[in-house]
Parts: sequence; C-alpha cells; structure tokens
Amino acid sequence: MKILFYDAKSYDINSFSSLLPDYPKLTVEFIKSDLDPRTAALSEGFDAVCAFVNSDVGAQTLDILHAKGIRLLLMRCAGFNNVDLEQAAKYQIRVMRVPGYSPEAVAEHAMALALASNRRLHKAYNKVRENDFSLSGLMGFNFYQKTAGIIGTGKIGAAMCRICHGFGMKVIAQDVYENPSLKDFVEYVSMDEVLQRSDLISLHCPLMDSTYHLINIDTIRRMKDGVVLVNTSRGALVKTEDLIEGIRMHKFAGVGLDVYEEEGTNVFEDRSDEILEHSTTARLLSFPNVMITSHQGFFTVEALDAIASTTLENAMDFLAGKESPNEVSP
Ligand code: NAI
Repeated sequence: MKILFYDAKSYDINSFSSLLPDYPKLTVEFIKSDLDPRTAALSEGFDAVCAFVNSDVGAQTLDILHAKGIRLLLMRCAGFNNVDLEQAAKYQIRVMRVPGYSPEAVAEHAMALALASNRRLHKAYNKVRENDFSLSGLMGFNFYQKTAGIIGTGKIGAAMCRICHGFGMKVIAQDVYENPSLKDFVEYVSMDEVLQRSDLISLHCPLMDSTYHLINIDTIRRMKDGVVLVNTSRGALVKTEDLIEGIRMHKFAGVGLDVYEEEGTNVFEDRSDEILEHSTTARLLSFPNVMITSHQGFFTVEALDAIASTTLENAMDFLAGKESPNEVSP
C-alpha cells in the first residue's frame, strides 16, 4: 500500500523510517506540504494519506482525495476536529487516528506550562541573561494544597490528575464520563464548581461544537481571581479575545498555552507588522504572565515512537480489512 505523508518534518521521517523495514507491505513517500485543497491532488497514485493536527481535511479536500482514489486517512494525532467525518464516510474513506500515544508527554507539558507561567520562568530566564538578578515581577504561589480543576479526564486529563495529585493538590474534575481509575483521589463536580474552586484549571477535552469557546468571558468571570489557566488541547476551546479581556481584568496569575486559535494560519510565517498588529496571539504574548509554546506537548521521543508504530499498525489493520478501535466515524 502506498501512503503519501503530508507535512513531513525531519523527526517524522526519522521515527517512521526506523520502523518501516518491519512493514514491507507499506511504502511511504514524505512531502513537506501540508494537506489542504491545494495539495490534495498530489495524492494521485496513492492508496492512503497521512495527515496531522493542522491539516485541512475538510469537505473540499476530501472531494479531491476521493477523486484520486484515496481510501484511508491516517491521522497521526489524537484529535480529529480538522476532519469532515461525514464527508469521509460518504466516500467510504476510513479515518484512523492515534488515540493515546503518550498521554504523559502532553500532561507533563501542561504542568510545565502551569509552573512556568506561575513562577514566570520565561521572564526570569530572559532577565538573568541580561544580568538582571532582581526578583521583581516573579512572585508566584505554591501549588501544594491548592485545588486543580481538570476539564476532560480521558487519557491526558487522567495523567494530569495524577501529576497534580503528586504535587499535593486537591484534584477536582469535570467530564461527561467519570474515569474509574481516578476514583481514589479525584472529585467530580459541576463545571461551575471547577470554575469557582480551582487555583489551576487545565483543559483536556476535545474540540467539538459543545466545547468550542468553552472558556469565554462568562466562564472567565466565574473563575477565582489569581487562577492559572492552561490549554494544551485545542486553541478554539478558548475565545482568545475574551481571554485577553480576562487578563486585562487581572483574573489570571498565569496563562500557559500550547495551542491557540491562530494555529495553522499564516500569522507567524508572514510576520509582517500589519498581520501581527491584528494577531490575537501576538497580543497575548505582550502580557508578562502568559507563556505560549508552539503545540509541542506531544513532542517527546516516546510519543513520536508510539505515533509511528500505531499509525503503521492502523495501515496494516486497514490492509487486512480489520475493524480497529482507532477508527473514527461521524
Ligand atoms: P480522550 O478522548 O482520552 O479524552 C477526552 C476526554 O474529554 C474524554 O474523557 C471525554 O469524555 C471528555 N469530554 C468530552 N466532552 C467534554 C466536555 N464537554 N466537558 C468535559 N469533558 C469532556 O483524549 P486525550 O487523548 O486525553 O486528548 C485530549 C485532547 O488533547 C485531544 O482532543 C487533543 O485535542 C489534545 N491533544 C493535544 C496534544 C498536544 O500536543 N498539545 C497532543 C495530543 C492531544
């Protein structure tokens, strides 16, 4: 089976190429372009395409993939909010993903963002490099014995609950399902209670219609003053304009974001003054208590190995005509 691998970075090529000798039935061609309606036609002559978090796998792309005979979409990530599943189903294009390649990779990054934004490590690093050893503007608060509110307790949220518990925090959570593995140390409460009681709020639910702009001015107003907010899930869970308003109201001790609404747009490729002036991410970066990383939560050795092996196993399941727990449907 021939797979066209979009948006290939050197680390993807390394992790996949090291496993490919074990999969003689699969051939993979790596290209730098990401998948979108302009590049979908490159899939001519392939059986499957492999895409990632910022690929545009909307209806228009799927129309073209279908016309080119693609039967399998391999998402090498957990989220699939960028895929039009209805359209894929209409064309009988199977969609497979990698549901839990390394929950700890993302949860550890979420805690890193929480700690760094609370203790202003990003500022401290720059200050000391400039020979400024003063502590002004760097005061944080202890996480020990504070309350962590975890929204979404699937694989990553559960790992975050364990980390927060290990820090000596009280852990409360909100999810549509309760995760039985957490019953000894996590208290499930309403969303309102998470907002009102938490000193640290970390988002670990998927982006769906029901979670779009879950954090908005209304939910922000209900949070405790001095809360730390972390988002490592998807940018659009947070309404950025409202977050900026909340920061201006001094609601947050710290904000740590690994994902942001403008991801995948040309804002940071272009970097022209005019574009940056209107960029909400650039505005966020102007606040001293905000720390942003570039969607790197997944980026560990263990996670990349797991992504490569699960994606190739997904392709083998497809070839064998097997059902797969990693398949997503509308
Ligand atoms: P998961 O599917 O194991 O868990 C998601 C949980 O959210 C489930 O327990 C689900 O019931 C819950 N949920 C759904 N709707 C909810 C709502 N309205 N309120 C509260 N909870 C709700 O997914 P996993 O593996 O834990 O990943 C979570 C998210 O993390 C993914 O959807 C993805 O967007 C993001 N992610 C980010 C990465 C990064 O590099 N920053 C890497 C991997 C995933």
